Amino acid sequence: MNKGKKVGEERALPGEKSAELLSVRNKYVPKAVYQVTPIFIAKGEGALIEDVDGNEYIDFVAGISVLNIGQRNDEVVSAIKEQADKHLHTCFHVLMYEPYVKLAKRLAEITPGDFPKQVLLTNSGAEAVENAVKVARRYTGRYGIIAFEHAFHGRTTLAMGLTSQVKYYKYGFGPFDPGIQRFPYAYSYRAPFDTTDADYGKYCVKRIEDSFRTYMPAEEIAAIIVEPVLGEGGYVIPPVEFLKGLRRLCDDYGILLIADEIQSGMGRTGKMWAIEHFDVVPDILLAAKSLGGGLVLSAVVGRRDIMDSVDIGGLGGTYGGNPLSCAAALKAIEVIERDKLLDRAVELGKIAKGRLEGMKEKYNIIGDVRGLGCAISVELVKDRKTKEPATKETGEIRKKCLEHGLIIMSCAALHNVIRFMFPLVIKKDELERGLDILEDAIKEVNKAM
Ligand SMILES: Cc1ncc(COP(=O)(O)O)c(C=O)c1O
Repeated sequence: MNKGKKVGEERALPGEKSAELLSVRNKYVPKAVYQVTPIFIAKGEGALIEDVDGNEYIDFVAGISVLNIGQRNDEVVSAIKEQADKHLHTCFHVLMYEPYVKLAKRLAEITPGDFPKQVLLTNSGAEAVENAVKVARRYTGRYGIIAFEHAFHGRTTLAMGLTSQVKYYKYGFGPFDPGIQRFPYAYSYRAPFDTTDADYGKYCVKRIEDSFRTYMPAEEIAAIIVEPVLGEGGYVIPPVEFLKGLRRLCDDYGILLIADEIQSGMGRTGKMWAIEHFDVVPDILLAAKSLGGGLVLSAVVGRRDIMDSVDIGGLGGTYGGNPLSCAAALKAIEVIERDKLLDRAVELGKIAKGRLEGMKEKYNIIGDVRGLGCAISVELVKDRKTKEPATKETGEIRKKCLEHGLIIMSCAALHNVIRFMFPLVIKKDELERGLDILEDAIKEVNKAM
C-alpha cells in the first residue's frame, strides 16, 4: 500500500527506507558517483515514479534522456522477455544473431544521408565516441580532433578529453589526448561580445578556419565532433550557420563531421535526429541513451567507406550490441515511428516552452528560455544584464521541486541551467502539473533574491 505523498504534496527527503539504503550506498559506493536526488526508486511507469517510501513523482529527467518512450514501455518489456527466452549473450564476434544485423539495417535507414552506411553497436555513449574517433583517425590517417567548449562526450579518458567541463568531469584526471583542439560553440546567449545568433555562428566557424594557420593545419585534422544541440552544456540550440559552416569546413578540408546525437537523438527535438533540423548530413552519427529503450546500447553509424576502412578486428568488444538491447531498440524505434512521437515532441515542446516563456515575463531569475521540440532549458541568472549565473538558486529550485514531487536536473558549466527531458509519452496533465510545481519553486526563489 502506498503510504507516501502524492505529487504536489510536500515530503521530507530522504524517506525512511531511502535513508537506510543511502547509508549502505555511502559505505560501499564512492562519493564520486554523484547523486541528483537522495531517493531510491521502487517502480516507474511512463513519466511517473514511486520511491521505496511510497512517495510519487513526475519525472522530467527520464534517466537523463534515456526514456524518451517512457519508463517500462510494455512493448519494449515484451520484446526483451521474448529475446531472453531465446538466448542471452553470445558475443557478436563468436555467434552472430539476427537482432544485431536487423538493428544495423534500421539505423542505416533512419539516419540522415543518402549513401551506403555501416553500423557498429557498442554499449555506452562514451564507447561510441571513442570508436568514432578511432574510425575517423584510421580513415583519414590524421590525428587531430576538433571539439567544442561546453561539450560533453563522456567519461572515458578520450571522451573526457573531448568534454569541456572541468569540475568535476575532468578534474585531476589529465593529461588528455594531445590531438584535441577546442573552439567556442555557437552559444550566443553567452557570446563575449554583442552579436546575433547567425553572426556568432559564422564567427565560431571562422575561428576554426583561421586556426588552420595558427594552431594545427587542416591536413592533420581527422574530425570535428559536435553535439547538434548541446546536452550537458545547457540545451543550447545553435544557429543553422554554425552547423552548416562546420559541414562546409569539413568538405573543403577533407575532415569528417561526427554528430554526437547521444542526448539529442531518438526524437527528443521533434525529429529523429537533431541535425535534421539544420539540413546538415554528418559523415558519422552517434546514438545511445534512448536508443536502447531503457537498456544499455550505443551505435556508431557512418558512411560505409569510412566504417569499412578499419582492419578486421579493429572494432568490437565482448558486449557491444547485446541481443536484449537490440531487441529493445528495434521496438523503441517502432514505437516512436508508429505512435508519431516526433509530432508529440513538437506539441509537448510548444506547451512547455510557452509556459516557461510566460514565467520569464514574471520572474527576473529566468535569463533565457531555449528549446527545440522537447529539448528545452531555462538559464537562471542573478541579473539579466550581467548574466551572473544563479547557481545556488538553481540548486534550491531543484530541491523544492523534488520535495513537491517533481524530478528535475540542472546542467551547464555554471550549473545554472534547468533542462527538461521528460518522456515524450508524458500525459499533458502530468506535464502541466510538473510545470506548476516548477513555477511555484521559481516564484519562491525569485522572491527571495
Ligand atoms: C552528448 C553526449 N555524448 C556522450 C555522452 C556519454 O554517454 P555515456 O554516459 O552513455 O557514456 C553523453 C552522456 O550524457 C552525452 O550527453
